[in-house]
Amino acid sequence: MRIKKLFLFFFLCNQFLLVAQEEINIEEIISKLTLSEKVAMCHAQSKFTSPGVPRMGIPELYMSDGPHGIRPEINWDDWGYANWTNDYVTAFPALTCLAATFNPNLSYEYGLNLGEEARYRNKDILLGPGVNIYRTPLNGRNFEYMGEDPFLASTIVVPYIKGVQQNGVAACVKHYALNNQELWRGHIDVKVSDRALHEIYLPAFKASVEKGNAWAIMGAYNKFRGQHCSHNDLLLNKILKKMWDFDGVVISDWGGVHDSNEAINNGLDIEMGTPSDKSVSKRYPYNNNFLGKSFEKKIIEGEVEEAILDDKVRRILRLMKRTSLNKNRPFGNINSKKHYETAYKIASEGIVLLKNDNDFLPIDKNKKITIAVIGENAKKRMTLGGGSSELKAHKEISPLEGIEKEFNNAIVKYSRGYSSDANKNTNDLKKQALLLAKDADVIFFIGGLNKDSFQDSEANDRKSYDLPYDQSKLISQISKINKNIAIILISGNAVKTDWKNDVKSIIQSWYLGSEAGNAIASILSGKVNPSGKLPFSFPNKLNDNGAHYFGKSSYPGNGSSQTYLEDILVGYRWHETKKIPPSFSFGHGLSYTSFELFEINSNQKKYSLGENIEISCRIKNSGKYDGKEVVQVYIGKINSKVDRALKELKGFKKIYVKANHSENIKIKIPVKSLGYYDEMISDWQVEKGNYLIYVGNASDNICDKIVVTII
Ligand code: BGC
Repeated sequence: MRIKKLFLFFFLCNQFLLVAQEEINIEEIISKLTLSEKVAMCHAQSKFTSPGVPRMGIPELYMSDGPHGIRPEINWDDWGYANWTNDYVTAFPALTCLAATFNPNLSYEYGLNLGEEARYRNKDILLGPGVNIYRTPLNGRNFEYMGEDPFLASTIVVPYIKGVQQNGVAACVKHYALNNQELWRGHIDVKVSDRALHEIYLPAFKASVEKGNAWAIMGAYNKFRGQHCSHNDLLLNKILKKMWDFDGVVISDWGGVHDSNEAINNGLDIEMGTPSDKSVSKRYPYNNNFLGKSFEKKIIEGEVEEAILDDKVRRILRLMKRTSLNKNRPFGNINSKKHYETAYKIASEGIVLLKNDNDFLPIDKNKKITIAVIGENAKKRMTLGGGSSELKAHKEISPLEGIEKEFNNAIVKYSRGYSSDANKNTNDLKKQALLLAKDADVIFFIGGLNKDSFQDSEANDRKSYDLPYDQSKLISQISKINKNIAIILISGNAVKTDWKNDVKSIIQSWYLGSEAGNAIASILSGKVNPSGKLPFSFPNKLNDNGAHYFGKSSYPGNGSSQTYLEDILVGYRWHETKKIPPSFSFGHGLSYTSFELFEINSNQKKYSLGENIEISCRIKNSGKYDGKEVVQVYIGKINSKVDRALKELKGFKKIYVKANHSENIKIKIPVKSLGYYDEMISDWQVEKGNYLIYVGNASDNICDKIVVTII
């Protein structure tokens, strides 16, 4: 034990010395750079690179989207794809799926494998992950994020970052902050209380910095309290760099910089995406950017201190030392068997079984039955479209392909049923689908949203909460002639499910990437027992969601600003506190087996501030399949002196239990995580008194409650 401690001590001393040496070296480099060289490092030199210092052997920084795979190569100075042939990649499942696994180990594997692909493609900075909180189901980019709960998002994002960065590739966590809708994203001024900011919208970014040690952060497009987030004094200088001690680089969102003085003074380090101006210089067309020549001039004229520039350069060099200048970083690899296995594992563990009447699923794959697969999403490619997360997938197994392969004893017939193409005659499609449905033994309806504009896609929000292209009507019509129907929803957002009583089963599938079809088929056949849990609520109707309840001033705003009137009551916090039941709740997800939770206890009844609450329970798999379950612990304050959510997720554990077996579970919750953000003192406060601990397997399915006291 003593030797171990001694070893650790020497190891830490050595690490400290190495870091100190690196910092001294960075200062040496800075002292040798000219003013122009330093300024150049603070802005782009092409769509996805920023310059190094050629005469000193300091290489350029190569960046790439993110967050589900490495984006195909873009032309040097325009948005066209470069049409390379060596940029085909593995498409990993969307981050909503990763969050739905409730499995931090898988998140690490995701990051590690993705980082390897980034490395192989010679990228130094991965523009991801995204951790904006899911506030409204209309946000076109929710699929790139990790759901509505700050604790879940924080827990999942940290291992992702560590995995990516282990490859010597920086994760650039985005979009900091409050970019919770795409509509008017370039200018909407978000008004939100300090409490909601710190309790809901910042924790995943904070965890990325403090626990994940993220090397880069991307400023968002929108404004917050009057300043654009890519040069926002409060967010970048005061909170990120001062309070959280962030030592990495702040990169603007592409074209998110609007003001030279703010960009210089308010914490931005690298300006990206501001258009190049070839009339200034063909060789250096980005020198006219906000952090370009005008920045240099201000320093020469004494208007700005050079120390401000040096701080930016110091951060950039530090990031380079961790990435492009790190001689020990691995070479990476791409499209390996391992990467597809990881993509499959995450996809099949993230799929959520929402409903399963009379154990309709799984369908025995040995049966010689007729399966009707209906719906455009059975074939539609989902790695294309959606905006900057678009990928050139080396392979993408469609749901139909996966089903045909898995159910090879059955006769599988396909009909499109509806179309996202407005010019298509949908009457014919509908007729054909109904005809097919009539004689089938089982129907898999594969629909939902897609990556087209105004669906799950960047730059716009959805226009309606309904399933698009008249799918609800089609589902109801099919169910009238054949009741044996399972709906497979492919989306990154909740949709209206007013047809849910007409069908036997519903599966929430996500944008699952390369292995999509294999993962979906494995769930349908029972090869994989579903264990995903919803990372966001499915309201019955749009107005049941907290952001929408207060009307236009809350979402989408008046065109120039908006106020988050639901405040801290986002997602299930709203549904639970206001007693507005959702159609499917946060944390909900069924299994083909059944689990029982019992002997739920806390290790003490009273705790003081520095202690951990340890919740223990037994879980029994009382069904006939082996499976995984997520035990979830929510906590609420009894008689709080401030408004609080009825319950908040504070801990969870995913566990594998064999059929007819039991396991013991322990979940540790630090007392300090029970605090609320006190605006009077601008800090967290843990109230003394009684707290109710809810233990269950969904936010609305609690098996037992315990009271503990904080003294
Ligand atoms: C997106 C970012 C992305 C960047 C570069 C922006 O439009 O908001 O998420 O990383 O483009 O493609």
